[in-house]
Amino acid sequence: MVRDIVIYPDKRLKQISKEVTAFDSELHDLLDDMYDTMVSKSGVGLAAIQIGVAKRALIINLPDDDNEDEIQVKEDTLEIINPVFIKKEGSCKHQEGCLSIPKVYEDIVRAEHVILEYQDRHGKKHTIDDNEFLAIALQHEIDHLDGKVFIEKLSFMKRKKFEKEWKKRFK
Ligand code: CO
Repeated sequence: MVRDIVIYPDKRLKQISKEVTAFDSELHDLLDDMYDTMVSKSGVGLAAIQIGVAKRALIINLPDDDNEDEIQVKEDTLEIINPVFIKKEGSCKHQEGCLSIPKVYEDIVRAEHVILEYQDRHGKKHTIDDNEFLAIALQHEIDHLDGKVFIEKLSFMKRKKFEKEWKKRFK
């Protein structure tokens, strides 16, 4: 089921999400709704708080390089529960966007390589060791679990410019 996306500067986006302790059908429904919502907006990542649920859960579905049409396949969706970074190193800059701040794209500096431990929807533990796009997407989504959005990483002047333009959009 597609749910409403929480839009910046809604205070819920500042909430620190809570660890998931029950890997039950409620969690599975949440993950399925997150997928439906993300795909309905052509997004590549979504944290639970973006549909108003303060749980440490996120999904990522990056377009497949081998797939010319860049079709998103549900089976390729990474479902990440209770993530913890084991390592973050290097630095890289890429353009990011966010379904909670639609149509805003900015260059953001993040770690280039990450190692992450997490649980899947059944509570089983896994490790991801990856670079560039997946590493960036993971850092962006995990920031949401900690109440942060990507525009907070902008320089003071760029942030000011963003806030001014954002306010204009809602007049
Ligand atoms: Co986002």
